[in-house]
Amino acid sequence: MPNEHCKNYPAELSGLIEQFKQIIETPGNHDHHVSRYLPARKLAKKLDLALGTEGCEDADIIAALLSYLRYTPKAWQTNFNKLLYSGFNAPGVLADWVTSVSNATMHTYQVSPVASLMEQELIHSLNRLVGFDDGDGIMVSGGTMANMVAMMLARHRLCPNIKEQGFSGKQLIAYVSELAHYSFEKAAIVLGIGTQNLIPVKTDQQGRMDLEALDNAISNSIRDNKQPFFIGLTAGTTVIGSFDPVKQASAIARHHDIWLHIDGAWGGPVLFSESCKHLLADSTLADSFTWDAHKLMNVPLAASAILVKEKHALIRACEGGGGDYLFHEDENSDYNFGNKSLQCGRRVDSLKFWLSWKASGAAGYARKIERLMALKQYMLSKIDKYANLQLLAPANYLNVLFRYEPRRSLSESQLASVNIAICKSMLKQDLGFVDYAQYKGRLGIRFILANGDLSEQHIDRFLENCLKTGEDFLEP
Ligand SMILES: Cc1ncc(COP(=O)(O)O)c(C=O)c1O
Repeated sequence: MPNEHCKNYPAELSGLIEQFKQIIETPGNHDHHVSRYLPARKLAKKLDLALGTEGCEDADIIAALLSYLRYTPKAWQTNFNKLLYSGFNAPGVLADWVTSVSNATMHTYQVSPVASLMEQELIHSLNRLVGFDDGDGIMVSGGTMANMVAMMLARHRLCPNIKEQGFSGKQLIAYVSELAHYSFEKAAIVLGIGTQNLIPVKTDQQGRMDLEALDNAISNSIRDNKQPFFIGLTAGTTVIGSFDPVKQASAIARHHDIWLHIDGAWGGPVLFSESCKHLLADSTLADSFTWDAHKLMNVPLAASAILVKEKHALIRACEGGGGDYLFHEDENSDYNFGNKSLQCGRRVDSLKFWLSWKASGAAGYARKIERLMALKQYMLSKIDKYANLQLLAPANYLNVLFRYEPRRSLSESQLASVNIAICKSMLKQDLGFVDYAQYKGRLGIRFILANGDLSEQHIDRFLENCLKTGEDFLEP
C-alpha cells in the first residue's frame, strides 16, 4: 500500500537519494586519501568553476559534486585529526538532507513546528546536563556566536537600557584565560567592548586559568574605575584541552557580581560520562554555557547552542521588532523562538542534532568519550616510549600536543621549522592530516582524538609516519 504520508513529498527526493548513493559509491571517491591537497591557484585551474549563462546537464551536476568531494579533505576519515571534529554520522547526514528539503525557518512555530519542539527538547536536555534546572537557550550558528551572545547577556544585565539607549559610557572589562578561543575577541569587537578591554588571564602549569591572576586583574580594573562584567571560562581549550576551575572562579564572580560564562564548545560532552564529568564539575554555578554539538558529538556543522541559567535573560536581551508582521499573538507565541534569536531566517539545526542524539543515546556519547580517553592514554604511553617524541603540554582531555625532537640539539626555531615541515609533508604525502600549534612558547603537532572509529593501529601508524617524516626531513 502506498505510504499516504509520503505522497506530497517532492517526487525528486527518491531520485536524489539514488544520485547521492552513486556519488559516494563511485570508485575513486571511496579512496583513503584524507586530502588531495593542491594550492589554490592550481586547484582553480583543475575545477570548472565558471557559472555560465545556460543551465547545465544533470551529468555536469554529478561531475561537479564528485570533484567537490575529491578535493575537499575527508573529515569522516580516521586520519582526519586536525580539527575538533572527525567522523561520519549517517543519521546526521540524512537529517541534514531532509532539513534542506523541508527548508523550514526557525523564527516562528508556524513554519517549523517539529523543529521548534525538537530544539526545545534539546535545550532542556542540555540544560539538565549542565545543571541549569529552569534555564533557557537557543541554537546558534556556532560556538563563536554562542560566546558572543553570552557576552551580550552579561552586558545587558549590567546595562539594562542598552537596547534602547546604547552605551552609557562605562568601560566594561571581560576576563578570559590566555588559552581561550579567539571568538571572545570577535565578541569584544562586535559588542563594542574593545579588544583592549578583554583581559587574557595567565594560566597555571596545567593550562587552567590562574585565579589569583584573575582576582588581581579584577582589582586592577576596579582601582582604575573600570567595570568588570564578564568572566569567560573554558572547558576544553582549543589547543591543549585544559579545563578552567569553575567553583573557585564562581566565588570570585559572585563576590564582584560578574557574569560567569563557560565555553564548553569542545569539552561540554564530558558531562555525558560518569568517569569524565569531574573535569567540568560545578557547571551549574555558571550563568551561561556554550555547547557545540558539531565537535565531539559529530553532528554535521553547524549545531550549537547558548544555554542560559536565568529563564528570561535571553528574551530580555534579544527581543525587538517583527511584531507587526511575523510574531503574532496566538496559542503558539511561546514557541516563536525568533524572539530570542539574533536572526530572522534561521536554518533548522535541531533535526540533525536531535536525530544524532536519538540514534546514539546519551550512553553512546559516554562510551565514545571514555573510549577516546583510553586511546589518548595509549597515545601518551607510545609518545613516552619514543625517544624522539616529546609531549609539550598536559593532555587531560582529547588533545595531544607533542613534537618530533631528535637527540641532536636544535634551537627552538629549528625545532619549530622541523615540526611545521612534518605537518605539511604528511599532508602532501597523505600520511595524516594534523596541524601545528603553539603552547607557552613552544611549537608542536596537535593531534585531536575526535573520531569514534580511531584505533590503536591508527595511532601507531600516525606516530610512525611522524618519526619517519622527521627523519627524512633532517637526513634526506
Ligand atoms: C573552545 C572553543 N570555543 C569556541 C570555538 C568556536 O566554535 P565554532 O567554530 O563553532 O564557532 C572553538 C572552535 O574551535 C573552540 O575550540
